[in-house]
Amino acid sequence: MKIIVTGGAGFIGSHLVDSLLNDGHELLIFDNFLTGKKDNLSFDGNFRLVEDDFGSEDSLALIKNFDPEVCFHLAAQSSVVVSVQDPVLDFEHNILQPIQLLHTLINSNCKKFVFTSSGGTIFGEPENIPTAENDYSSEPASPYGVAKKKLNEIIKTMTSNTTLSYSILNLSNVYGPRQDPHGEAGVVSIFSNKYLNGERPVIYGSGEQTRDYIFVQDVISALIKSSKIQEDLFLNIGTGIETSVNQLSASLKTQFLSDLEPIFKDARDGELQRSVLDNTKARKLLNWEPQYDLDSGMIEVKNWINP
Ligand SMILES: NC(=O)c1ccc[n+]([C@@H]2O[C@H](COP(=O)([O-])OP(=O)(O)OC[C@H]3O[C@@H](n4cnc5c(N)ncnc54)[C@H](O)[C@@H]3O)[C@@H](O)[C@H]2O)c1
Repeated sequence: MKIIVTGGAGFIGSHLVDSLLNDGHELLIFDNFLTGKKDNLSFDGNFRLVEDDFGSEDSLALIKNFDPEVCFHLAAQSSVVVSVQDPVLDFEHNILQPIQLLHTLINSNCKKFVFTSSGGTIFGEPENIPTAENDYSSEPASPYGVAKKKLNEIIKTMTSNTTLSYSILNLSNVYGPRQDPHGEAGVVSIFSNKYLNGERPVIYGSGEQTRDYIFVQDVISALIKSSKIQEDLFLNIGTGIETSVNQLSASLKTQFLSDLEPIFKDARDGELQRSVLDNTKARKLLNWEPQYDLDSGMIEVKNWINP
């Protein structure tokens, strides 16, 4: 099958590309290397990689010519902190270019648009824990969250009464091999790298803030399953398990046999106190469930950082 992947040199995108090529698909991949890495690209199979914005005129013409059946849209300005510092950059990559992409796909034979939205930001500081797909009791606390929530609505509106259906997956906090250990997001990679190098990890705030950590391969299986379902889907993809940053840090400390204590600094703008997703709908509609618990996922990260 002919498939487009945007953001294919990124953390999640590169794992998706590996799986799709392994299944024998023909891929047209876009990445502008805003945060993507050449090191992530060890692909083998039938693909072309375009090093450009997916929303450029040239890229949109290539997409039209390629005539895909499915588009996995993962490219994004992916950092909450950067979105606070530079909301114009965020909206350019996370709203304006995706609208161009959608417009092109709607006027093509493409049947499915799969989008990685953000369950950790679109619901803001939710009243209900775990948070279900229809819980809009609160507003996003960052431009990144606002853009993801808006794009969810734009996708629903633009694709209605067209032959393009959508799978919008609200991902919780994804972790796994290839996640940048030097970035400011991706706490499992960052802390693992610190403990491995005998350095103290930094916790912003009290460390009692919670997240729903899901292993990257569980996300890939949900993305691929959702691409095969014809109906529109709007689903949370998380584990439903709440873990505090202090708990996470303590587990990693044990994994890396470290005796170093974290350093505590002031909480950062746009960060939430609690975040955990209700995944009941995804379990039912995708016949999917997470296969990795946090300990087994952390071992995969440890083996990647320290092979
Ligand atoms: N990692 C998580 O915990 C998480 C959680 C929820 C949602 N998401 C979403 O999943 C997707 C993948 O995230 P990730 O963690 O792999 O981040 P990532 O930064 O590793 O991947 C994003 C990729 O998109 C590329 N990119 C950005 N703008 C582009 C553009 N205009 N044209 C072409 N390429 C562009 C980047 O270079 C990068 O390779 C993103 O949409 C992100 O918002 C991630």
